[in-house]
Amino acid sequence: MAHKLRFDGRTVIVTGAGGGLGRAYALAFAERGANVVVNDLGGSRAGDGSSTAAADQVVDEIIRAGGKAVANYNSVDDGEKIVETAVKAFGRVDIVINNAGILRDKSFSRMTDQDWDLIQTVHVRGSYKVTRAAWNLFQKQKFGRVINTASAAGIYGNFGQANYSAAKLALVSFTETLAKEGAKHNIRANVIAPIAASRMTETIMPPDILASLKPDYVAPLVLYLCHESTEESGSLFEVGAGFVAKLRWERSKGALFKTDETFLPGAVVPKWPEITDFSQPQYPTSTTDADFVSLIEQANALPSNPKGDDLRYEGKVVVVT
Ligand code: NAI
Repeated sequence: MAHKLRFDGRTVIVTGAGGGLGRAYALAFAERGANVVVNDLGGSRAGDGSSTAAADQVVDEIIRAGGKAVANYNSVDDGEKIVETAVKAFGRVDIVINNAGILRDKSFSRMTDQDWDLIQTVHVRGSYKVTRAAWNLFQKQKFGRVINTASAAGIYGNFGQANYSAAKLALVSFTETLAKEGAKHNIRANVIAPIAASRMTETIMPPDILASLKPDYVAPLVLYLCHESTEESGSLFEVGAGFVAKLRWERSKGALFKTDETFLPGAVVPKWPEITDFSQPQYPTSTTDADFVSLIEQANALPSNPKGDDLRYEGKVVVVT
């Protein structure tokens, strides 16, 4: 029999919980005893406008089902106000689900500063602001759970989403650092790249596929990662359509160069197959996972690099910022 994970006495903030994935998380937490802050600005998919209706509807649904929830209509950019709502209503915050998001898809040649900035503000600054406002409470109470929301576009890149993919990958490294800083305070942070039917995806996928991509199929992993019994932290998961998988960084064995005057751009050319050879991979998880002292010793022990033709750039104009 599957375990029924409970969240009685825990307070959860779910941003962007007025629809899509956020709504599914809010309902699932409430059903398992949590107090839920249903945050939603209620604007359009592109981030225009605002309304209280989206958050109110989800709060109504939770209360009608016998759960505990309050609405908050602030933008995630005002993270302190969302945390204030939680503390005022329930006296604490235990879990932050940074889920709110918008899209401003455009090919890079047509992207404007506004398209870029608004996406960074909602996804990156919004996740920062809400988490920052909860963080010291987490530290004091020696408990906290954070879920950030990345995207396959952030991991792999995607046509028309330079702004969005940059923001989404930023949330992966944000999570990795939060996990390291939170470890000794029993704060766990993880990041998901979900796939689900919502107003974000309804125009880019056919109806029969959308029917199998219920947001409800993402919620189980999110709730598992937020439970008090969960040790997992600093990890990235792809989740959706009944599929859950963990991703990690992989480093090729790499190549070593003698670090003397023979280490020229042309010396890289013959070693390119080694640099890109993943047959003996490593899986680093911290900045100290490369033993630089040993690498320096090994590089110094090498003979000088073979004198190939150096690379030339006549006729090219280079901008170095
Ligand atoms: P959705 O559009 O249904 O939900 C996003 C919610 O965030 C909306 O209710 C919106 O009003 C709210 N929101 C937007 N800006 C806000 C702000 N500044 N402050 C507070 N609330 C705000 O979209 P969906 O699909 O549920 O997306 C949820 C998250 O999952 C987003 O971060 C999205 O980028 C991410 N995601 C979704 C995928 C999918 O397949 N649906 C794929 C990859 C990532």
